[in-house]
Amino acid sequence: MSEISQGQWRTALPVRKLKNGKKKMVTIGKKMILVGMHEDNYFATEALCRHMRWPLAWGAKVSDDCIRCPLHQTTHKIDDGELVEWSPFPLFPPYGKIVGKMSKQKDLTVYDTRIKDSNIEVFF
Ligand code: FES
Repeated sequence: MSEISQGQWRTALPVRKLKNGKKKMVTIGKKMILVGMHEDNYFATEALCRHMRWPLAWGAKVSDDCIRCPLHQTTHKIDDGELVEWSPFPLFPPYGKIVGKMSKQKDLTVYDTRIKDSNIEVFF
C-alpha cells in the first residue's frame, strides 16, 4: 500500500526578519525556499531559478507581479509561478545561451504563505 504524503504548514522565519521589499532564502527540512514580501504581501517560491539554478535571493527583482532572475532575466508570475519569459538575456555565462535553448522551459513552484504566531509559514 502506498502512502500519500500530504502538505503541511512549515515555519519559515519570524515576521520581524523580513521587511517589505526584501526576500530571503530559507531551508525548511531539506527544501530550499525563497520567502519574500512585496507591497505588503508575502510570497514563497522554490529558491533556485528554473533556468540554471541561480539562487533567486541573490538579486532577483520583483515588479509588475513577476519575479525576474538577475542572471538571464527569466521571469515568472509571483502568484502562480507561470513562466512569462525564458532566458531572454543569456549572455553570461557564455554557455547560458545554449542551456537556455536546450533546457525545457518550466514554471516556478509557488507556495502558499500565512502568518501564525508571529512567524511566516509556508505550505508544501
Ligand atoms: S539562471 Fe536564472 S535566468 Fe538563467
